[in-house]
Amino acid sequence: MFDAQNIRKDFPILHRLIEGKRNTYMDTAASAQKPLCVIESISKAYLEEYANVHRGSYWLSEKATENYEDARKTVAQFINAKTPDEVVFTRNATEGINLVAATFGTCHLKKGDEILLSRAEHHANLVTWQQWALKTGATLKYFDLAEDGSFVMDLFLAQLTDKTKMVAVTAMSNVLGTVFPIKQICAAAHKAGASVLIDACQYAVHKKIDVQDFDCDFLAFSGHKVYGPTGIGVLYGKSDRLSSLQPYQFGGDMIDRVTYEKTTFAEPPARFEAGTPAFVQAVGLGAALKYVMQFDFKEIEDYETQLTAYTTARLQEIEGLKILGTAENKGGVFSFALAGIHPQDIAFVLGKEGVAVRTGHFCAEPIVNKLGYTSLTRASLGLYSTKEDVDELIKALRKAKDFLS
Ligand code: ALA
Repeated sequence: MFDAQNIRKDFPILHRLIEGKRNTYMDTAASAQKPLCVIESISKAYLEEYANVHRGSYWLSEKATENYEDARKTVAQFINAKTPDEVVFTRNATEGINLVAATFGTCHLKKGDEILLSRAEHHANLVTWQQWALKTGATLKYFDLAEDGSFVMDLFLAQLTDKTKMVAVTAMSNVLGTVFPIKQICAAAHKAGASVLIDACQYAVHKKIDVQDFDCDFLAFSGHKVYGPTGIGVLYGKSDRLSSLQPYQFGGDMIDRVTYEKTTFAEPPARFEAGTPAFVQAVGLGAALKYVMQFDFKEIEDYETQLTAYTTARLQEIEGLKILGTAENKGGVFSFALAGIHPQDIAFVLGKEGVAVRTGHFCAEPIVNKLGYTSLTRASLGLYSTKEDVDELIKALRKAKDFLS
């Protein structure tokens, strides 16, 4: 049975005091805290089972290789990939998106083609495709969302044409919290002849990813947002799609044969993992995903739905506070503005109360500007978030308001 109070016991950092106060961590959307099992798996990898992977025929190297490939199997299970070979380890989601843009862009994009994004994309997705549109001469197009941040199928379909070659969208906005109907987006995009890349960074924290059910071509997420270490991310690609792409980077471990004149390349995923990979971090990610998978995702979702409703209601009690993103289908991300008070000042006072929130444009400047702001404050939830966190947030916000108004 999912119980956030019990779960908090697994996260040592939540029990340290911050500025002498309870640690109220409300910035999981930026990066999640780590359960002890993840920290221990990393220590074990360095203390007991460390050597380079795919290179040695001695015990330590074989063990490290086995651990790395086991982590790949765990990721495949987490996202329901058909095979672990569809899982490429990257540095983070940004690298995964850049990999797809660079390889897909080179092979498949030309002048006159269209790339379609939502207006709420993170810079990792937006800037990358903007640059590849410039390089290839393809046209970058955006579809609008409703005023409350909801996804509207007709607005998406209005921009999807037979020239669209790539639809690259978030599964859950890191600003608005909106959850996108990925399965329907993929079906419509495929019907129009386009490929689909999903940025699942926020979605992976809150909802069950099922790449076979989504039927997406590519999907990327970062390890550190889903309770794993930094420096590791995942790019999923359907087998035939990965096989059709050229390498992104060149170096050791991604080759088949090399002569002074010519190189042939390994099959995916090795083709896309040049150099020594972040294999210890991959082990940490495997531990994080196993940790999450011990729970029933339905229970996590139900709990978060309740806590999201509670947080929304409590935030709305504060006079002058406006939540940006109130779609019915939204997850635990709350961007807001407090009339007449700069977000940086709010965050400063909250920080002194032990409450961690993020301010700014959250690496999604265009949508924040489109909403009429240059900077917002954002609170976000994780597995370990409780009503007590929300109450502390509200108490600190009232204090900030009294102090700063
Ligand atoms: N892009 C991350 C966020 O939304 C870091 O905060």
